[in-house]
Amino acid sequence: MKILAIETSCDETAAAVVEDGVRVLADVVATQIDIHRRWGGVVPELASRNHVVQVMPVVDEALALAGISPAALDAVAVTSGPGLVGALLVGVQAAKALALAWGKPLVRVNHLEGHLVAAFLADPAPEFPYLGLVVSGGHTSLYAARAFGDYQLLGQTRDDAAGEAFDKGAKLLGLPYPGGVAIDRLAREGNPAAHRFPKAIVKGSDLDFSFSGLKTALLHHVRKHGVPEGPPLADLCASYQEAIVRALVEKAFRAARRLQFDQLVLSGGVAANSRLRAAVEERAREYEGMRVFLPPVRLCTDNAAMIAVAGTHALLRGERAGPELNADPAWRL
Ligand code: KG4
Ligand code: ZN
Repeated sequence: MKILAIETSCDETAAAVVEDGVRVLADVVATQIDIHRRWGGVVPELASRNHVVQVMPVVDEALALAGISPAALDAVAVTSGPGLVGALLVGVQAAKALALAWGKPLVRVNHLEGHLVAAFLADPAPEFPYLGLVVSGGHTSLYAARAFGDYQLLGQTRDDAAGEAFDKGAKLLGLPYPGGVAIDRLAREGNPAAHRFPKAIVKGSDLDFSFSGLKTALLHHVRKHGVPEGPPLADLCASYQEAIVRALVEKAFRAARRLQFDQLVLSGGVAANSRLRAAVEERAREYEGMRVFLPPVRLCTDNAAMIAVAGTHALLRGERAGPELNADPAWRL
């Protein structure tokens, strides 16, 4: 079964062809990072316009790389939410038009489900049930993943997403967008114990996250001491990153212990963070019997291959979307 998937929920225009939900025949991502960088973040209107320009070339390239014609496809899958409404609409309209023109079934996919199942394209792949931590620019959520299509939200951020904490923190430090990448790089030379950032206390569910206090603490630090340069800047980045990583690792392992999961799967752009990856591995070694799955960075950041995996299983369950399919910017998984 071969599926073409289209993903345009944020600032990457992506198309992929995946066979049987496991073999990637083509995985094309046209990133808009250079377009948004000068504005210091994603500008929704610019994202939509660039998706319009890129979506068909990206689909054509995916089919060419896969070496197949549209006739050989079994279905078209598309991210219909959550995300930026204008950006989502471009992918949804393209997918609807192509499915209609080619006479193929259409399936809608939740972007977060895509992140949760991206690890099935990596080797080794997890097995259900597992604990999934989605950490991206828009989301910080812990899920119990029990089967394809069966996910239970265990905890999420009350304010900023982890990626937002990186991006906003980087902006305060005058670092380029996307901030997570810049902080990750500088932090490698820094001392994570140089500064103490407050531990986020969240009332209510102790599996929820909160990162806005951390960002405020950094703001106060910068107001008081200015933005440092050289090694002190690296120390500040390393300490700030460590506070984010500590919160993510702590909650994930708390949930794993409480619900007796023995597999933890990370995904989303922040899962590309080198310190988070190392910290999760370290913690898993102390935690007997815990296996962690850290998909390659390309599968962690936004891509359409992960949408194809989720779409394949939605199709197998008999789900179909019709011509009335619309973008659902706040679709909760
Ligand atoms: O999943 P993603 O590509 O797009 C969303 O769905 O949001 O995630 C983008 C986020 C951005 O906030 C970016 O700063 C962060 O992932 N990110 C990182 C790293 N690479 C990307 N954060 C920390 N360390 C990284 N190496
Ligand atoms: Zn994402």
